[in-house]
Amino acid sequence: MTTQVRFGIISDPHITLPQTMWHHPQRFHLVEWSIPAFETALAHLLALGIEFLLLPGDLTQHGERENHQWLSDRLQQLPIPAYVIPGNHDVPTIEALANFSSFYRAFGYENSPHPLCYSTLIAAGIRLIGLNSNCFSPAGEQLGVLEPEQLAWLEQELVQHRSDLIWLMIHHNLVPHLPGQEDSALGRRYMLTNAHELLQLLESNGVKVAFTGHLHVQDVAYHDRYGVYDITTGSTVSFPHPYRLLTYEYEDDPKLGCLHIESFRIKSIPGCDNLQHFSREWMGDRSGGFLRKLLTHAPLHLSEAHSEQFLPHLRYLWADIADGDAKFEFPDFPGEVRSFLESFTDRPPGDNNCTLRL
Ligand SMILES: [Fe+2]
Ligand SMILES: [Fe+2]
Repeated sequence: MTTQVRFGIISDPHITLPQTMWHHPQRFHLVEWSIPAFETALAHLLALGIEFLLLPGDLTQHGERENHQWLSDRLQQLPIPAYVIPGNHDVPTIEALANFSSFYRAFGYENSPHPLCYSTLIAAGIRLIGLNSNCFSPAGEQLGVLEPEQLAWLEQELVQHRSDLIWLMIHHNLVPHLPGQEDSALGRRYMLTNAHELLQLLESNGVKVAFTGHLHVQDVAYHDRYGVYDITTGSTVSFPHPYRLLTYEYEDDPKLGCLHIESFRIKSIPGCDNLQHFSREWMGDRSGGFLRKLLTHAPLHLSEAHSEQFLPHLRYLWADIADGDAKFEFPDFPGEVRSFLESFTDRPPGDNNCTLRL
């Protein structure tokens, strides 16, 4: 007999009530549409018959109480369970981190003895472990690290529930989604600093799937050495405004099945009939700073002046990366620049629609 488990992912919704919105001329995220975007994705996923919803962090614009409260109230009204974790934007201070789960008791933390992580059965034989990847240095700087106590707790959980299929949800990326992501300052901040320690633990306990957010890019990455998939979902407030439907299918043993991933995009919302076009241009208008850094930092180290000649051709580079399944060709660029930029071309298994055999 075939068993199917259907669920949705909405990542980085960055909920922003109008009175809380930050105004900044170079603001990258379309947070003014965060609520209609969230509602559109939610309505579609509910109509598709999902059994539960995962939200891998950056739930709010920047950790405002009103925005946490709005989302918590909204999730409370859902006819299905929802599971959340904190993103860096949700917990900008130590106090906010300490208060996070008080908003979201019913969404993962209810029976957890730990304030910031949980382990719960989400379907027969399938367990979700929600982790917190945010902490602070003694100087108060926000970091993306899994602290030793959580790693120790996780190890116990993995050993204790060895008979379950275990999926992880964590905001920071475990597996690089971009070429050289671990080696560049630009990409490194999206990764968990101690990702290898966590990946080692996952490998030795047979955990193969982690759902992440943070990067605002549609990407499915596989770590050959550890045998772990990092499925990162883009944000509903930035191009291409995606969300995912996942169907896990197995015959007898929940640990041996196929995870089918489908992705959708929010095409329009009240006030913006062609959100895809508007948002791609919005991102193109604001990508210059990122592109300059990409070209002038490692590995290319171009001069500012030299980088300028490529910028007009790269207006949509970040939008195309965020869209997933990117294919880049720059036949007219010089060798090193060409091969670096073409290395952003995505490889199998596919970022938006694919099947993973677990
Ligand atoms: Fe984030
Ligand atoms: Fe985010």
